[in-house]
Amino acid sequence: MQLTINGTPRTVEVEEDMPLLWVIRDELGMTGTKYGCGVAACGACTVLVNGAAVRSCSMPASAVEGAQITTIEGLARGETLHKVQAAWVAHQVPQCGYCQSGQIMAAVALLNENPSPSDADIDAAMTNVCRCGTYGRIRAAIHSAAKA
Ligand code: FES
Ligand code: FES
Repeated sequence: MQLTINGTPRTVEVEEDMPLLWVIRDELGMTGTKYGCGVAACGACTVLVNGAAVRSCSMPASAVEGAQITTIEGLARGETLHKVQAAWVAHQVPQCGYCQSGQIMAAVALLNENPSPSDADIDAAMTNVCRCGTYGRIRAAIHSAAKA
């Protein structure tokens, strides 16, 4: 199977129905994308597929052949953080951090679709779960990134 991840074509020998999350983590060794619930409920495993947020635990890898897949490892350009990552640092968003790569990917997808979201837009789009309750800082960081 041929997948394009962070701009690089990758060939993997996996079952058609293997979830994209396990291809990313176990086959390709990129562990920034996290496993939380495994049933598309928490968002810890969020990646971008053609710029939109996808919960990779519940997406068969074979369904995204030919698409542009972006993981948290693919956001920065060299030493330069993506504006959402920079806003996350500026606002000190993470607590335990476990949910945060998924939160960042969901925020990037939101800003791809809506470059200047309102609080209501953010609340509607950001359905990822954070057990540490960082929702207020996430919202503030998204507003900052929107202005960057
Ligand atoms: S691990 Fe995929 S949504 Fe929770
Ligand atoms: S920072 Fe701990 S779960 Fe979100």
